[in-house]
Amino acid sequence: MKEWKKNREMMKSHFDSRTFADEESDQNMGVEPPAVEIKTPEDAQVIPLPEPGITPVKSDISRCILERRSRRKYTDEAISTGELSYMLWATQGIKKAIPAYGNTGTVTIRTVPSAGARHPFETYLAINNVTGIEQGIYRYSSLNHNLVFLFNVTEVQNKLTEAAVGQSFVGNAPVVFFWACKPYLGEWRYKGESHKAMLLDAGHVCQNLYLAAESLNLGTVAIAAYSQEKVDNLLKLDGKDEFVVYLAPVGRVEIG
Ligand SMILES: Cc1cc2nc3c(=O)[nH]c(=O)nc-3n(C[C@H](O)[C@H](O)[C@H](O)COP(=O)(O)O)c2cc1C
Repeated sequence: MKEWKKNREMMKSHFDSRTFADEESDQNMGVEPPAVEIKTPEDAQVIPLPEPGITPVKSDISRCILERRSRRKYTDEAISTGELSYMLWATQGIKKAIPAYGNTGTVTIRTVPSAGARHPFETYLAINNVTGIEQGIYRYSSLNHNLVFLFNVTEVQNKLTEAAVGQSFVGNAPVVFFWACKPYLGEWRYKGESHKAMLLDAGHVCQNLYLAAESLNLGTVAIAAYSQEKVDNLLKLDGKDEFVVYLAPVGRVEIG
């Protein structure tokens, strides 16, 4: 059997076969739950976002589903902070944060589903052309609905294109969304069963970006073809406890 065919096992469900039943989960062992998201340092530069209450240009969900396409050609026009705020809310926005059963941390109920409401992602942005926000790498705080400035990258457009294995529409986009998975958020409860579920979770997040962008007359495309090392290095992620699983550039598209 080819080595990579072994990956197929990860695509299957192991919940009934109890493949991992010989070992208790950290949750069952009483280990403290991991934090819902990375804590924003006291001295961080925080950029507030407008309320995500923008009125979509296309408010009809059926029309958004019908007209959704993967769009790779963007104009030079900037995206507004209202549009960005809406897309962040649509992809990872928190509707409710409640104490977990047995007082084991916080559970967040968001605009997207997630197995066991574990929501194992951080959202990072490479901002290139958003009105009123400096270029740079940012992290979205879902709990506070704001952006945390992280750092600047020189020649970021070239580096983004290179990290996306030559897909230049990624480097040239006004903004690129990155979803980084923190596997322990799922593993804490579901051990080895969590990995498949976390990848399924990512699909819902990106689909909401597609539909939110479509409703604003913006365009996006899901990207799974990228260099793991280059993308993680660009965002300064350790590649072990946190690494990118999916990304998507967003831009304004020609209408008509
Ligand atoms: C998981 C996934 C990964 C994808 N990766 C890429 C990619 O790396 N580059 C790209 O140009 N399109 C990528 N796409 C977009 C597909 O090519 C696109 O969805 C497909 O051609 C169907 O077109 P449509 O989305 O316009 O219906 C990806 C889509 C998905 C769902």
